[in-house]
Amino acid sequence: MSKKTLVVTYLPSGERSHTKKLVDAFLAAVKGKAPVEQLDLLKDLPDVFTAEILGAYATRNYMGKPLTPEQTKAIAKMDRMTAQLKAADVVVVAFPMHNFGLPAVVKGWFDSVMLKGETWDINDKGYVGLSKGKKALILNSSGGNYEGTHAGWEHAVSLAKLEFQFMGYEIIETVAAGGMNAKPQEAPEVIAQAAEKIKALVANWYA
Ligand SMILES: Cc1cc2nc3c(=O)[nH]c(=O)nc-3n(C[C@H](O)[C@H](O)[C@H](O)COP(=O)(O)O)c2cc1C
Repeated sequence: MSKKTLVVTYLPSGERSHTKKLVDAFLAAVKGKAPVEQLDLLKDLPDVFTAEILGAYATRNYMGKPLTPEQTKAIAKMDRMTAQLKAADVVVVAFPMHNFGLPAVVKGWFDSVMLKGETWDINDKGYVGLSKGKKALILNSSGGNYEGTHAGWEHAVSLAKLEFQFMGYEIIETVAAGGMNAKPQEAPEVIAQAAEKIKALVANWYA
């Protein structure tokens, strides 16, 4: 099976980013094993549903009607990001937690690629994911830890996972480095352990 890989990043902390260390571990491990394309969401900001884009989406994807040239243009970036995701067998999405959830830019990317008739659809049995036989890896870091009593506060990784499930991804893994701010003295060790997990996962997925 082809293992064409798309790595989607949102790393606004730049070189200081904790999350970037996880991305670097993935890229180093996968080097030479598969073709890798990168989408830097800071350089290529996803669109969000304006009235115009939502109108084009509803017209084409729900009503099955043709678009005007203006509508085609309005939804073009979402279409491009969706086609890029659909062309990949493995997708890696890397982002920090912001305010307990997915950073807005990453949510914008999910909204851009979760197009009905492209990555999911509705049939007589209900909702159906169209991304069969594909794998997703979520890389995340956060200031706190969200296990145990605070599990219900975590809406970043959990939402990304749900979006991939809805699109039909069959294997969804997460490597998260928690406690980056709560226990900064332990951060290097937590990141090192996460990097080891990523290495093992790549060895398994790209064997
Ligand atoms: C705007 C902003 C909001 C944040 N909100 C949270 C939060 O709700 N919960 C949390 O645990 N950490 C939060 N953090 C901390 C980051 O998730 C943490 O420092 C993470 O490791 C940053 O990743 P980075 O170094 O890749 O940017 C926030 C950081 C920023 C900049």
